[in-house]
Amino acid sequence: MKEIHNIQFTPDGQAVFEKIMGIWPPILQQRKQDQILTMLRMLMASRRVKVADQTLVIEATRYVVPKSYDPFFHMIQDMKKFKRRILDTFSDIKAYNARPVRVHRWKHPPAPKKKRTCATNPRVVAFCASPRKHGNTDMLIDKALEGCRVHGAQTEKIYLHDIDMGFCIGCRRCKEPKAEQICVVKDDMQKVYQKIIDAQAIIIGFPIYTGREAAQLSTFLDRWDGFERYMFKSALQPGRVAMVIGTWGYPYPDTYDHVIESIITILSLHKIETVEALSACGFEGMLHGLDENHRGVIAHYPRELQKAFDAGYALVRAIP
Ligand SMILES: Cc1cc2nc3c(=O)[nH]c(=O)nc-3n(C[C@H](O)[C@H](O)[C@H](O)COP(=O)(O)O)c2cc1C
Repeated sequence: MKEIHNIQFTPDGQAVFEKIMGIWPPILQQRKQDQILTMLRMLMASRRVKVADQTLVIEATRYVVPKSYDPFFHMIQDMKKFKRRILDTFSDIKAYNARPVRVHRWKHPPAPKKKRTCATNPRVVAFCASPRKHGNTDMLIDKALEGCRVHGAQTEKIYLHDIDMGFCIGCRRCKEPKAEQICVVKDDMQKVYQKIIDAQAIIIGFPIYTGREAAQLSTFLDRWDGFERYMFKSALQPGRVAMVIGTWGYPYPDTYDHVIESIITILSLHKIETVEALSACGFEGMLHGLDENHRGVIAHYPRELQKAFDAGYALVRAIP
């Protein structure tokens, strides 16, 4: 039994605690240790447990780190399963084809019962932040747009990678009291701003790159700051709804939900209510989430794609 800062550990609890601390560089270790030990103390007190074992240490750590640490926990909890589900898909085509590809449609608010008051052919504009045409994000967006059209919407899809879109230059001219344009940077965003203003619903689909949204989407959303005018007045009035689609390689459908949450929060800062969200996972391995024809493997999972269709249909129904 070992004691660390007045907490008693079982040998396996201590071993896993040391392993966990080893993943951070020294500059982060102290603060991570403080956070984990505080959480551990709270869990032990609430459960009247005197000694921290491996399970409790992992539980406490999971409360203080984002879900994107999942691969690490899966590795230390069950190395065989980790190898079968993740590592083997990079070297063995059979394992690649058998890996779980899943779409999770988030629990959504019930569709409004009232009669539709919005335009007969509402406009839905989708933004694809993946540079891969016919990749998984792209196909999920297409399916969602199909659902929108069945409900009478006019749809358009824009590939962020293809448009001329510069970075926000931080000039803050958009916040000046008499600023006329949304943004002074002269590029395709001028047309895109108008499309957003004219739309009743927005779809944003993006792949996870290095644990967060692909840079195309970060750049795009920085440019949305132009909608925020002098004294926090917004150029966008409430009334638009959105769908957010996140896709990633790791084969668990909640690993990067916090990234989707952050996109939903940014949209809500712009007075857009996200009513549909999809997490889609399993797009990695030896063919990098594509099939032999270089198309997203999601094409082989019609039941998963149907969820995007249903969400698209519901998105249009949710337009106020
Ligand atoms: C540069 C890069 C970084 C990536 N980082 C991650 C990652 O951190 N976690 C993960 O699960 N998948 C990661 N992936 C895999 C992509 O998220 C996954 O293949 C994605 O669903 C591709 O979408 P697409 O088919 O629409 O292009 C990464 C892919 C690339 C190209």
